[in-house]
Parts: sequence; structure tokens; C-alpha cells
Amino acid sequence: MMQEKDVYGIVLAAGKGTRMKSKLYKVLHPVCGKAMVLHVMDSLEEAGVSHLVTVVGHGSDAVKDLLADRTDYCFQEEQLGTAHAVKMAKDLLADKEGKTIVICGDTPLIRPETLKALLAHHDETLAKATILTSLEENPTGYGRIIRDEEGSVQKIVEEKDATDEERLVKEVNSGTYVFDNRSLFKALEEVKNDNAQGEYYLPDVVAILKSWGEVVSAYPMEDVREGLGVNDRLALSKATRFMQERINQEHMLNGVTMIDPTTTFIDAGVKIGADTLIEGQVTIKGQTVIGEDCTITSGSRLIDATIGNGVTVTQSVIESARMADGSNIGPFGRLRPQADIGENVHIGNFVEVKKATIKKDSKVGHLTYIGDATVGERVNVGCGTIFVNYNGKDKFHTTVGDDCFIGCDTSLVAPVNLGDGAFTAAGSVITKDVPADGLAIARNRQSNKENYAKKLPHRR
Ligand code: UD1
Ligand code: CA
Repeated sequence: MMQEKDVYGIVLAAGKGTRMKSKLYKVLHPVCGKAMVLHVMDSLEEAGVSHLVTVVGHGSDAVKDLLADRTDYCFQEEQLGTAHAVKMAKDLLADKEGKTIVICGDTPLIRPETLKALLAHHDETLAKATILTSLEENPTGYGRIIRDEEGSVQKIVEEKDATDEERLVKEVNSGTYVFDNRSLFKALEEVKNDNAQGEYYLPDVVAILKSWGEVVSAYPMEDVREGLGVNDRLALSKATRFMQERINQEHMLNGVTMIDPTTTFIDAGVKIGADTLIEGQVTIKGQTVIGEDCTITSGSRLIDATIGNGVTVTQSVIESARMADGSNIGPFGRLRPQADIGENVHIGNFVEVKKATIKKDSKVGHLTYIGDATVGERVNVGCGTIFVNYNGKDKFHTTVGDDCFIGCDTSLVAPVNLGDGAFTAAGSVITKDVPADGLAIARNRQSNKENYAKKLPHRR
């Protein structure tokens, strides 16, 4: 059966993307945190493509760095058109028996389910080529699918080569096709560049196969938005919106509550547990993982964060940091890389933590900087505490034992260690270790001058 034959995939990614007006090559532009070409790769792999070839040209090093050994590569030195691009894969694929999906690296929304349906349609219709099409309200810019009176596909005409009548056609080419592999490479030999753009068009393969009496079919996708090709920043923002909608829907169906999904920006690949509530105006990026029963309020921004169960994040920024079960932060907290917040720890307002472990049941309520430190269990860090970790050249570590009490406005000048149960008096500048259960007072003694206030300038 056809189904059992290998399915190859060719990804076209050699173009520069002039219309993007960008220093970044088009297919590397991220949509919901993931490069467009990676979305395409993932869909192909999930659809069961066994051997991938990516056509690179502009930005080939950067594309190869990203895709590494997930795919073979062929190099298109000059971008002479999509048919020319596919032809670059000739040495790798031309003699292979099987089917080949050709897809553009700038169509990130095409889902694996759609590719599977396209393959099935190709098999059912016994076609040599099947085009994935969509019905666009505004077909401007796309190749139009031209069918005869019986409805069978005759050819694809590019916008720039189309007659006025052809331009009225709303069924367009998504740039994704399945071909019988050998027929594809045979037909490519016949493609000419006598058209408005002087390019070798891959869509011309359709008319060539037809002229040989072969069956060509078209499969209109169910959700036309999947067909969006990203050529400029307007389309990029549209693609991002559609992808975001899809990502958020999936989370909601998995049990996540979203108050306003239209303003909740979550990257592809973020994981969120059931019964977690996410308010609007929240951004969650990178490899963030959030547990169950959490609340993330408006104005929060999480990047590569690892959040346990039952955590509350109130209007705070968390980057490459961890929060264990039952902990909370904010409003206006900031966790920087390698902050590791233990179970049931409270991080209050205007607290910044960097490269520091704070063990369970500790409280850091207000206006504090903790950097390069280990803080034990059940510690109370008073308002205005500063872990003085930097002398302008090197960073030093501070260790605070279990059950310590750091008085308000303490500076802990690293390197320094506080034993378990140590207590620092408010306003202290701690430069020496404090023994377990010791009280450290490191501030000037107070002296009062009787009636002196009356002599001060403002009273005269
Ligand atoms: C192409 C199709 C059009 C379809 C549309 C869907 C052709 C001629 N036209 O138009 O029918 O409706 O996609 O989005 O195929 N590329 C190369 N080498 C080249 C030229 C292009 O690798 O020499 C790559 C580009 O990097 C891009 C893809 O092929 O990823 C498509 O090229 P693009 O210029 O975006 O084609 P469209 O004008 O969008
Ligand atoms: Ca395109």
C-alpha cells in the first residue's frame, strides 16, 4: 500500500525575506517564541515524515545552527524560484520511491493533522500531486488554483501572471503540496521561467503533470488561517495572533483558566497544570513550566521559570528562576537567574533575588536585595535588607542559617556567614560572621542632645 512507503519532506528556506525588512532571515523570525521554520519542522515530524531536506541559501549558517541534525540540507546559491529550490534536493531524493511533502518555511500555522489529511487525500485520489489550498476572502499575493468546469485542477497562476478573471479566484495555493517523488523531479526538469517574475515556479509542476495526463488534486484545508504565509511584519503579527489563540485554547482545554486569553501571551512549549488561573496581560515565555492551582496575575512576566503547585505570582517578573510549592511573590517582585525559592516562602513587594537559594517557610517581605546567597529555613528578612555581594570586581557569597532574624535595614557584607538562630539588630552593617544564636549589633550607639532640636535652622 502507498501508506507504507516513505514520506519525504522538503522545506524551502533559502529566501531572504526582503519584505520583512529585517536583519534576521525570514524563516528564523519567531512566532510565539519559536522560529517559523521550527514550527514547520515539528509539524512535518508529527505527520510522520521520515526524511527531511531543508533548502538553505540566505542565512544558511543560522538556519543550520537552529535545525542541526534534524534534517539534511541542500544549498541554493541563487534564489531563482521555488521550483529551482526544490531541484536542489535532486541528488538527495530524485531516485527515491515514495511521496514528498514540499512546504515553505514561512507557513508556521499548518498543523500535523492537516498534513496527514493532505496525505490521505493524495492517496485516495491516486494523484501524482495534491495541493493544500485555502479559500481566502482576500486572496491577494497568493497563487490562484484554476479548475476546469468539472472542478478538476488545471494549474496554479501566480498573482503577477494572473488575468483579471483569474485574480477573482479565491481558492489559493498554501505553498504546501504532496507529490509522487519521482514524478516531481521529472516534472521539475520541464519548468521554465518565462513569467512575470522570471522565476522557476514550483506551482508550474501542476500544469506539467496535467499535460502528461496525470491526476492532480487539491485539498482545501478546514481552517483557512493555517495557510497564512508570512512575507511581512503584518502577516507575522497575524500568525502570532492565530498561534496564540491555538496555544491558549489548548491550555484551557487542559484545565487552565484564562480571564482574558486575547491578552495572555504564552510561548509554544510552555507547560501549565490544571486549575491554574492566569489573568489577562500576562506574558509567559521560553521553557516555563507552571504547576497546578497557581495564580498568575496581570502584569506578570515569566521567562524560563519553573513554578511548583499552589504558587501565587502577583505582578512580578521571573526569569530562569524556580519557585517551589506554596510560595508566593509580589506585587512587584523580581526573580533573576538562579533564584531558587523554597516551599511556602513569601517574597513581598520590591524584592529582588538573584543566584540565591531561600529555603522553605522563610519570609522576605519588603524592599530587599538578595544576591549570591543561601538563606535557611524559617528565616525572616526584614525590610530594606541588602546582601552586599559585589565589591566592584568580584561577587561574594552570604550564608544565613535556619531560624535567623535579619533586622530591618541590615547590610550583610559578603563573604559572611550567620549561624542558625542568629539575630541582627536593625540598621546593622554585618561584616563579620555571627555565631549560632548570637545577636549582632553593628551600628553607632544613639546619643540624645536635650532641647537641641529647637536650635536647628528650621526652628530659628
Ligand atoms: C509562494 C507560491 C504561491 C503560494 C504562496 C503561499 C511560488 C512561485 N508561489 O509564493 O503560489 O500561494 O507561496 O505562501 O512558489 N524560496 C527558496 N528559494 C527560492 C525562492 C523561495 O527557498 O528561490 C523559499 C522562501 O524562503 C520561502 C518559500 O520558498 O520560504 C516561498 O517563497 P516566497 O517568495 O515567500 O513565495 P510567495 O511569493 O509567498
Ligand atoms: Ca511566502
